Amino acid sequence: MRAVEAGFDVVGLEIDSVRVASLQSGYSYVEDVSHDVLRAALDSGRYAASKDTADLEGFDFVIITVPTPLKETVPDLTFMEDSAREIAPYVTPGSTVVLESTTYPGTTEELLVPLLETGSGLTAGIDFHVGYSPERIDPGNQTFTFVNTPKVVSGVNEDSCSVIAAMYSKLVDTVVPVSTPKEAELTKLLENTFRHVNIALVNELAVFAHALGIDIWEAIDAASTKPFGFMKFTPGPGVGGHCLPVDPSYLSWQVRRTLGHSFRFVDLANDVNEHMPDYVVQRVNAGLNGHKKAINGSKILLLGLAYKKNTGDSRESPAMRVAEILHEQGAELYAVDPFVEQHRLPAYITLVDLTEETSSSNDAIVILTEHDGLDYDLVARSSALVLDTRRRLDGVREAL
Ligand SMILES: NC(=O)c1ccc[n+]([C@@H]2O[C@H](COP(=O)([O-])OP(=O)(O)OC[C@H]3O[C@@H](n4cnc5c(N)ncnc54)[C@H](O)[C@@H]3O)[C@@H](O)[C@H]2O)c1
Repeated sequence: MRAVEAGFDVVGLEIDSVRVASLQSGYSYVEDVSHDVLRAALDSGRYAASKDTADLEGFDFVIITVPTPLKETVPDLTFMEDSAREIAPYVTPGSTVVLESTTYPGTTEELLVPLLETGSGLTAGIDFHVGYSPERIDPGNQTFTFVNTPKVVSGVNEDSCSVIAAMYSKLVDTVVPVSTPKEAELTKLLENTFRHVNIALVNELAVFAHALGIDIWEAIDAASTKPFGFMKFTPGPGVGGHCLPVDPSYLSWQVRRTLGHSFRFVDLANDVNEHMPDYVVQRVNAGLNGHKKAINGSKILLLGLAYKKNTGDSRESPAMRVAEILHEQGAELYAVDPFVEQHRLPAYITLVDLTEETSSSNDAIVILTEHDGLDYDLVARSSALVLDTRRRLDGVREAL
């Protein structure tokens, strides 16, 4: 959308027909892109959504943003490889290919370039430009948008890097060139591994602090008054989405494959964060036990299912794992999440509105995602047991 605004002619190439039809009809399924912005792009005549690879004909720039998931803990780059094979026949002298998907260092030069060269018969860096630029979008962030977040760029040679930097400088305020694609690929993994490890640190500390009778939240707030050398991270029910649980494993996989070492920080952080949903259930169980109740047969209301506040993405959300364990243990589950759609949820979760009735007719309420706009005072007043994993209620009810 930003490229359309900046005056480029843009084709959004997508293999999912439902998504193509949605975009063509002006309905945006991306939360950060409004229907109005999409419609304005369509009306400009400089944007089209398409399923047809023939629309690659004559491109100046291709930006690859396909999924890079894990398959049984191993990076699955088949989407990237398929799209490279589709693009290659359309690569012409002077054209440019940029990879944005998150991946391990070396992917651009060792996997993407050979596929493009084989399919085009041309040479990267000489006949056409290739580079890597990590995606840094933070869904739901109103302060840091695509435009005012600096964009790290790289190329397989100087020429490629400067062409790619010039293109992105038309879209964003600041571009940050680095020497080779490997540094740019590592930049993204460093950013996400940093978050993953620090979240694991406060999560583990939260478990110990609770057992020691110390308020971790107060300690974090106090530490945050230090104007240097400390960055605030808060505990929660685990990590979710497609970045934190996945990206650090791309790095640890590569370290193990090429150097034979384990990346201990990543392994430890995975272990701590993956166990947080179990810990949340353990705390719910202890709370119910205090009321002479069991999880089995209890009515439990979950507040927030998405992995991130104010977004509707429940994929790989730790809240969904909490729900799954509670369900396995016999709980009757209700949930409040204005952003998540019922048809994306398992049948054992019933979405309800947050009302006097729904907040008081449960044995326990668990705040898992701190969406704005919910009536938290109502929850604070509820007669049910409340476990606040995000400390949204400022400590007036039990926090993690
Ligand atoms: N979503 C984010 O906030 C975010 C942030 C930073 C990095 N990333 C990275 O960006 C990449 C994509 O993530 P996403 O969240 O946009 O994934 P997504 O699954 O929402 O979207 C990717 C789209 O690519 C389509 N696709 C797959 N193969 C294709 C092909 N050959 N040709 C055309 N389209 C194809 C899929 O159908 C899908 O609609 C991943 O590497 C992810 O790690 C995402």
